[in-house]
Amino acid sequence: MLLLAALAALNAASVHAAAAGTFDVLSMNVAGLPAILNGNGESGDKTTNTAIIGQDFAKFAYDVIHVQEDFNYHATLYVNDNHTFRTATSGGVPFGSGLNTLSNFDWIDFTRVKWATCSDASEDDCLTPKGFTFMRVSVDDGVYIDFYNLHADAGTEPGDETARAANLQQVADYIDTWSIGNAVLVFGDTNSRYTRGEDGTRVFLTQNGLTDAWVQDIEGGVYPAAGAPALVCPDGVPPDADCEVVDKVLYRGNAVISLTNTGFFYDTARFLSSDLATLTDHNPVRVEFAWSLSATLRTSDLQGGPHGTWFSDLLSLPAAPKASVLTLRGGARLDSVAITLTSGASFVHGGTGGTAVSLMLAAGEAIVSGTLCWGVFDGDTRNFYAQFTTSAGHTLAAGTMTASCATMTAPAGFGVVSFVGQDGDEMDQLGFIYAKQ
Ligand SMILES: *[C@@H]1O[C@H](CO)[C@@H](O)[C@H](O)[C@H]1NC(C)=O
Repeated sequence: MLLLAALAALNAASVHAAAAGTFDVLSMNVAGLPAILNGNGESGDKTTNTAIIGQDFAKFAYDVIHVQEDFNYHATLYVNDNHTFRTATSGGVPFGSGLNTLSNFDWIDFTRVKWATCSDASEDDCLTPKGFTFMRVSVDDGVYIDFYNLHADAGTEPGDETARAANLQQVADYIDTWSIGNAVLVFGDTNSRYTRGEDGTRVFLTQNGLTDAWVQDIEGGVYPAAGAPALVCPDGVPPDADCEVVDKVLYRGNAVISLTNTGFFYDTARFLSSDLATLTDHNPVRVEFAWSLSATLRTSDLQGGPHGTWFSDLLSLPAAPKASVLTLRGGARLDSVAITLTSGASFVHGGTGGTAVSLMLAAGEAIVSGTLCWGVFDGDTRNFYAQFTTSAGHTLAAGTMTASCATMTAPAGFGVVSFVGQDGDEMDQLGFIYAKQ
C-alpha cells in the first residue's frame, strides 16, 4: 500500500481527468448564532440541532457544502461531520463570518473577503464581519471550478436593500477579476428574492453570465418578475421546490468544462429532529451537477501561489490553435512565459526581467509536456522554473530549479497552446491550456 501510494504521488501530476463526472452541492444556513441572540423559532436546543445537521452532512455525503451562520456551534458541527476537506472557522460572533466549506474535493487559493458595506437598519448585519469566500475547487485533475459562498445583508429597510445590492455587486466584480474564463458556482444565503427588484441578485446573470439553478429547473427558465408577490415557502417541509428561498445556487461552465444542472431540491426532509421538527429557519438547497470536458480544449493543474492577478487565455484562443514560438524569460526565478500561435495570436504573461530564450516549432510539432518548479520569495510561493518538451524532443527551460516540481503532460493528441494563472512581474501561478492538434 505504501509503495502504491508513493507511485501514485509521483505520477499524480501527469494523471489526466476523466472526461466527465458528477457532483452535488448543498447550501445551508445552519442558524448558529448564539441562542441568546437568536432563538430562530426552531424547537430543540441549538447544540442538539447542530449535531444532527453534522451527522446528516456525513450521512448524505454531499460533495461540497457551503454553510452560513456557522458561528457558535461550529465545533459540534465538525465533530459530527466527516468530510475530508473543511475550512478552518473564522470564529464565533462577533469575530467570524459564519461561512465555511465542507468538501469531498480539495481546493486551492481559499480567500475570505469582508463586505465593504453593511447595514444595521434591521437584523444587526454589522455585528459580525460577514462577506463571501472564494476557492478554486479541483473536482478532478486540472478541472477547477471557482466556488463562492456568501451571506448577504438581511432585512428589507432601504438601508438593507442598499447594503445587499452592494454586497452582491462586490461578489460580481470579484468574479470578473478572479474568475475570468473560469467555470463558476455561487451558492449561499443571498438574503434576496427575484420578486424583490431592489435586491440586486440579477447582477450575477447580467454581469457574470451565471444561471440560477432553481429558475432553470423548477421555474422553466422564467425569472420571477421584480415586484411580483413573494413565492414564500410554507413552514416545515415544503411539498415541492415551487417556492422561492433566499438561498441560491448560480453557475456557469467555461470553454473547457461544460456544467449541467441535473436536479434542484429542497432537502428539508433530510434535516429533521427526532420529533420531525426542522433544524434551522432555512430550507437546505441541493443541486446535482454533471460536468464534461471539451473534446478540443483541456487545462492542467495550477502550480505556484495565489499572488498577482488572475489571467486566462481561454477567452482569446482562435479555433484549432497551434503553437509556433515559445518564449520564456528567467533568472533566479521564472519571469515570463509567452506563446505565439500559427494564427499570429500571441500571449505573454509575467514581467520583463530575466533573460529571454525562444524555441521555434516546426510544422506539426507540438509542446507535449511542461515541468514547473516553485519556491518561496518574499514570503510568497511563486514559480521559479519552467521546462517544456516538444513532440520532436526539443526542450526549452528558464529560471532556477527547486526541490518542488511537477511535470504536466498533454493528453494524447493535445499540445500546450497557452496559459492560465496569476502573474505580476513574475509568474506567481501557472497552468497550461492544451488544445487538440
Ligand atoms: C462519512 O460517514 C458516512 C456514514 O455516515 C459514510 O457513508 C461516508 O463514507 C463517510 N465519509 C468519509 C469521507 O469518511
